[in-house]
Amino acid sequence: MTMTPRKKIIIDTDPGQDDAVAILLALASPELEVLGVTTVAGNVPLALTSRNALMVCELAGRRDIPVYAGADRPLLKTLVTAEFVHGKTGLDGPTLPEPTMALAKGHAVDFLIDTLMREDSGSVILCPLGPLTNIALALAREPRVAARIERIVLMGGGGFEGGNITPAAEFNIYVDPHAADLVFRSGVAITMAPLDVTHQALTTRARVAAIRALGTSLGEAVAQWLEFFERFDEQKYGQEGGPLHDPCVIAWLLRPELFTGRDCHVAIETASPLTQGMTVIDWWGVTGQAANAHVLGGLDADGFYALITERLARFG
Ligand code: BDR
Ligand code: CA
Repeated sequence: MTMTPRKKIIIDTDPGQDDAVAILLALASPELEVLGVTTVAGNVPLALTSRNALMVCELAGRRDIPVYAGADRPLLKTLVTAEFVHGKTGLDGPTLPEPTMALAKGHAVDFLIDTLMREDSGSVILCPLGPLTNIALALAREPRVAARIERIVLMGGGGFEGGNITPAAEFNIYVDPHAADLVFRSGVAITMAPLDVTHQALTTRARVAAIRALGTSLGEAVAQWLEFFERFDEQKYGQEGGPLHDPCVIAWLLRPELFTGRDCHVAIETASPLTQGMTVIDWWGVTGQAANAHVLGGLDADGFYALITERLARFG
């Protein structure tokens, strides 16, 4: 019997309840080998995103996963955080024990560069779930890594759906547009999960109930995260459930057939005070510029939640 090799991934993240579910989905999936988790300032400051990433690995029983702290601020801008969505800790909802595992020694950017230079070229996928600061720093400090990255699969941006932190900009890109600009101009193959797709991944009552019905402490923690996190967007958008953004990245790696999308040119607005952080997606090909990203647009949301629920069940 021939075994399909596991995809090697590094998750770069700012947990965040939806980041936490994405990390759990990856750790539960035998198709993926998580080489490490790197943290970045975003939803909350770096000390908390690092603490939260450790907490999630411990919840998954995966103290073996190295977690490296990275950039504590964007390249050029002052850090903007989102406690109004994610709560004071970034992971508000259930009461979980403080992590006992320690951060790995060294900086996330060094870990990214060292890993990409050590592993076979074209064998490592980067999965950024927050602002792109660490990824941009790695590309800037060691330009040879660009050619060695298999693909960057990221959550960020918006097209027809607009923005969620300003009318024009999605949070991850808005926080560090200069980093995003560098990444989108790097020549690395990119898959982008913008708000257009993540806004279809709604945490309806029935979907949260199915996760709670797993009857495990992990399932209960996830259900409480989703219930905490969805309140803000339910009010904002006037609908049942909030968008579960970041797990779209991992789900695309596991089951790309759940998604539709197209190859487009994507440019990042870095300067305009009105639209800074906007992802200008040439969905209709009107510029004639070569595509630099595969942009996701459609989602089989029931299939997506069935996948998450089935994988979370594996934690027992
Ligand atoms: C993105 O911003 C964060 O609040 C979420 O974790 C997600 O990565 C959605 O705009
Ligand atoms: Ca995130």
